[in-house]
Amino acid sequence: MELRPDEENILKGEEGESRRKAMELLVALGKVYGAEDLIDITSAHLSGASYKTIGDGGLKYLGDQVAGGAKVSVLTTLNPVGMDLCRWKEMHISEKFAVKQQKIVELYGKMGVRTTCSCTPYTGENVPKFGDHVAWAESSALSFVNSFIGARTNREGGPGALAAAILGKTANYGLHLDDKRVPSVLIDADIDGSVFSYSLLGQAVGCAIGCRVPYFRGLPKDTGVEEAKTLSAAMAAAGSVAIWHAENVTPEAGNYDVSDLEVIHVGKEELKVAYDTLNTADDVQLIALGCPHLTEKEIHEIATMLKGKKKKQGSPVIWFCTSAATREKCGEDVRILEEFGPVLADTCMVVAPIEGTFSRTGTNSAKAGNYLPALCSQSIMCEDIAKLMEAVY
Ligand code: F3S
Repeated sequence: MELRPDEENILKGEEGESRRKAMELLVALGKVYGAEDLIDITSAHLSGASYKTIGDGGLKYLGDQVAGGAKVSVLTTLNPVGMDLCRWKEMHISEKFAVKQQKIVELYGKMGVRTTCSCTPYTGENVPKFGDHVAWAESSALSFVNSFIGARTNREGGPGALAAAILGKTANYGLHLDDKRVPSVLIDADIDGSVFSYSLLGQAVGCAIGCRVPYFRGLPKDTGVEEAKTLSAAMAAAGSVAIWHAENVTPEAGNYDVSDLEVIHVGKEELKVAYDTLNTADDVQLIALGCPHLTEKEIHEIATMLKGKKKKQGSPVIWFCTSAATREKCGEDVRILEEFGPVLADTCMVVAPIEGTFSRTGTNSAKAGNYLPALCSQSIMCEDIAKLMEAVY
């Protein structure tokens, strides 16, 4: 791997121990994946922020980073953590967990990371442009920016993304290169266009293709942020898809001749299989919406659905998960939602320790449907929002 003189100096420790370690990690990753050099990035997005997932080992790692003087050098945002940083008591979070979680967020803050704690930073304060090289760790978000925006990132792990954020560089391999972004399978999609149908489509496609690069034909031209984030999340969880293209929808789709690709049809039958795979519960204790985090548009649609209705006694608990910034912007709609359940920021149903309180969860997200059984010991009802709400009013 070829390093410039200034990069060599960092590796020799001339800019301090923290930058030396970060460079060591990027060079090691570059060697493993055959990178020829490093490239500058415009932003990073970090995962590994919930105390539930990183534990005391992660807390110590972050403490060591801060003690070593680590500072990010590009715009860097942070994934959801294990609780709403203000309203954690409403989530049945223990004092002990809350103290450790606050400490993690504080440590990221000391490194200069924006601790907005959302998995949809591309709707707010971290919006890459077409062609930008970035280092993002959060499978749904990185797939969204690769695909729907046309920025370029690999599927980074937490430490790799942090090293990239510290140096403002990443190893130049994988999805930073044109030839790794080329579609390898054509998906002939037949869906009804609802956001939930993108969840099931992502589930079916992720299971069928693993980590290949799909090119969709048949998606509605008005596929927007909500649909694209849902599809990205589902394919990243059911498979490990990090980039997708869709005819008349994504910015790079027109670059490719797909006439010789293998074709996989996904229609009613395949969506039904995906639905059956995800659904393991007949009733739920918690309905958790916002995986990925709810946008302003989604909050408005749910508020419109709930307006004027009364929550039934004994109905499931509802959590609406979003970013603090979005919650702030949606005043009246948030007030309507709050009559049914808390609008939580900074967190989500997967990275919060819900297993101590609930065992059956309803979601409209295939990503949550994949992760909740393994990470939170939940049985799942995966349905569209209107159907889930039938248990509520
Ligand atoms: Fe976001 Fe949590 Fe889902 S981080 S994508 S809401 S699992």
